[in-house]
This record gives sequence, structure tokens and C-alpha cells, in this order.
Amino acid sequence: MARIIAISSGKGGVGKTTTTINLAAALTEFKYAVIIVDANMTTSNISLHLGLHFKPITLNDVFEKNAKLIDAIYQHENGFKVIPADISIRKTPNPNTHEYIDLLYDLSAHADFVLVDTPAGLGKETLSIIEAVDELITVTNPELAAITDAMKLSVHASKLETHNLGVVINRVRNVSHELPASHIERMLDLPILGIIPEDREVGRAIAHKKPVVSFSPNSLAAQHFKAVAARLIGEQYTPKTGLRQKILNWFRS
Ligand SMILES: Nc1ncnc2c1ncn2[C@@H]1O[C@H](COP(=O)(O)OP(=O)(O)OP(=O)(O)O)[C@@H](O)[C@H]1O
Ligand SMILES: [Mg+2]
Repeated sequence: MARIIAISSGKGGVGKTTTTINLAAALTEFKYAVIIVDANMTTSNISLHLGLHFKPITLNDVFEKNAKLIDAIYQHENGFKVIPADISIRKTPNPNTHEYIDLLYDLSAHADFVLVDTPAGLGKETLSIIEAVDELITVTNPELAAITDAMKLSVHASKLETHNLGVVINRVRNVSHELPASHIERMLDLPILGIIPEDREVGRAIAHKKPVVSFSPNSLAAQHFKAVAARLIGEQYTPKTGLRQKILNWFRS
């Protein structure tokens, strides 16, 4: 049975979709079978990040009972599978926790990991998913607004008895006004699963509709996403963030 993990944040735009896609790519490189579920049915992004936006059957169709789950699962060239959500403006289904549990249970026999990308905010749409999954990865940025929302997410997760695995601090620039990781760790009272630097390669990878882990495997972001994936499976992976890579990154930024 798969580990079923939601990737969530509270605040929008902090990097949930980027983290979901790149953990999927990295776990696939570690030889695990992964299915991504784009549960952001209102403002879906996964299919745009991965070039799957022309796929005819989506999670929306499955919840509207217009299609079978199996027909909404697409193989990505990186080896993982994806259930995209609809990017058009149409009425969004509003599944409850039990409908999510049924869906995720059906998927869990077909993968080692089911990674569920969640919408921004902490409304019913997000909380139904948090309740339905077993585990949660919190994504945040090193700024107070994002961390405040991550704290609220944490409170909800503990009420809903979902195991909060820890926090991924994304878009770290190491500038003086950022909150340091040690403060974030204390404020959230969560282990830090990884610190992902701000990296121009992330935007380039999205423009090419690929995970940065495969598009630019030596980039700092790719290396740090791989380290988070390794941590999830109890493997050791030390990012190769030597001077050469740092200089390259500096020139790119
Ligand atoms: N480490 C990074 N370095 C540089 N840019 C990044 C990084 N992570 C994410 N981004 C950029 O931030 C933007 C938002 O990322 P993403 O779509 O993953 O956030 P999100 O939390 O899923 O947003 P939403 O709440 O709207 O679903 C993207 O355009 C992406 O290019
Ligand atoms: Mg997103």
C-alpha cells in the first residue's frame, strides 16, 4: 500500500506544486512508483507545469462521475503517473473527505507514494484532503506571512489526526531579512525536511514543462529536492552543492 502524502501550505504561491512535482521526479529516480493527484481543482497548475493540459479526462470528471479513475491516470515521461485537474473555468466538484478517501484508497494499491497537491488556503477544499491523507508535508517560504499560515495548517492537521512529517522551506535566498531556518523550526515545532534555494532553473524548468530534478539535475534546487525525497525514504543523499555549482548559480541569477 502506498504512502499517501498531501503537500500543503496555507499561503498560496509558496511552491506546493513545484515541490510535489519534484518530489515525484526524485522518488521515481530512487525507483519508487509515484502517482501525483492534482487536487487543486479550482486553480489547477500541475498539468501546466508538466505539459499535460491537453489531456481530455481529469480528476474533475472522475468526481463528477463522468469518467473512470483509471482513464484519468496519465503516464509522464519521467516515469511517474499524474491525475491532472481541469484548467478550464467550469463548475468545480466539491468532494468530501470520504470521496477523497475512496479515491486515494483505490490508488494506493498501484504505487509506493501518492502525492496530493492541494489548493491554497485552508478552506473546506483543502481540509477535506488533509483529513483524507495519512501524512502531510508543509511547504513555506522564509517570511512571516507564509509561516503564520503554515502554523494554522499545523493546528488543523493535528486536529484532523494527520501526521505532519515536517516543513520544506522553499525559495531561500539567504538575505538578511529572511527568517532563519532555526526560527522557522521553532515557530512551527516541526522538523525541517529540506531547504530549497531560490533558483532560476525552477522557472526555466516550468517553462519547458519539466521537473527541475530532470531538466537541470545539477542545479541547487534539484539537488535539494532530491535530498528531501531521500529523507522520505530513509536514504542518505548529500546535495552536490560545491563551489562550481554555486558559481554557476550565481551567474544564472
Ligand atoms: N525554489 C524556487 N526558486 C525559484 N522559483 C521558484 C521556486 N519554487 C517555486 N518557484 C516559483 O514560484 C511560483 C509558484 O510556485 P508553485 O506554483 O509551485 O506554488 P504553489 O504553492 O503551488 O502556488 P498555488 O498556491 O497558486 O497553487 C512558480 O512560478 C515557480 O516558478
Ligand atoms: Mg499550486
